[in-house]
Amino acid sequence: MRQNIAAGNWKMNLSYQEGLELVKNLKKSLPIDGTKVILGVPHPYLKSYAEAISGVEGIAIAAQNCHHVLKGAYTGEVSISMLNSIGVKYIIVGHSERRQYYNESNEMIKTKVDLCISTGIHPIYCCGESLDVREAGDHVTFVKGQIEASLLHLSAEDIAKVTIAYEPIWAIGTGVTASPDQAQEMHNSIRGILREQYGDVADTVSILYGGSVKPQNAQEIFAKADVDGGLVGGASLNAEGFLEIANAF
Ligand code: PGA
Repeated sequence: MRQNIAAGNWKMNLSYQEGLELVKNLKKSLPIDGTKVILGVPHPYLKSYAEAISGVEGIAIAAQNCHHVLKGAYTGEVSISMLNSIGVKYIIVGHSERRQYYNESNEMIKTKVDLCISTGIHPIYCCGESLDVREAGDHVTFVKGQIEASLLHLSAEDIAKVTIAYEPIWAIGTGVTASPDQAQEMHNSIRGILREQYGDVADTVSILYGGSVKPQNAQEIFAKADVDGGLVGGASLNAEGFLEIANAF
């Protein structure tokens, strides 16, 4: 029904050469039956890594961000049409680090989602609550609000092009992982929101968990009914470990 996905988010790590080595090492073990591997790499590497994997099944390269305006005087920014012009098919949108450090609002992220859809690029849309929100017991309502603000205006046809990544901020890069039950609770809630709006299309949308996914915990988390894979930061920087995660379904 829906695709299992192991997505890496390298963030601002690895030199071009180190990254290429990693891509080449991953490539040797692909495709993985039933699982799509997506690598979120820094902008300057996108085109040449896409060439390095060309013709290999079961892998794609993703950008980690795009600007919310199509073109113009925004020094240092990268537009979606630039990414489209080099063949990018996936973009990570609304990561909590972008929300936190670059003040990306739900409204801005909604615009980026719309740009992706209109360009034929698949957004990997990120949501997730802070520790304060979780401790107050408001996490389900908070994430519902994020999704309502940035995704639910889409048509059923377009929501099917989106991958959702639930990433509790308190679990990102901290070594603390949400328990499989905590992940399932949220994923089930997200799927419920989609089902209410889109009916059975909800069952076609992959919902990934992110936040300290490691080879040691991937299997248990991915085994949950509504968890369709992971968005993996730190552990995606090592070929062996990331392959173990990608094989954990
Ligand atoms: P992490 O990052 O796996 O290093 O916790 C996940 C993410 O931010 O996507």
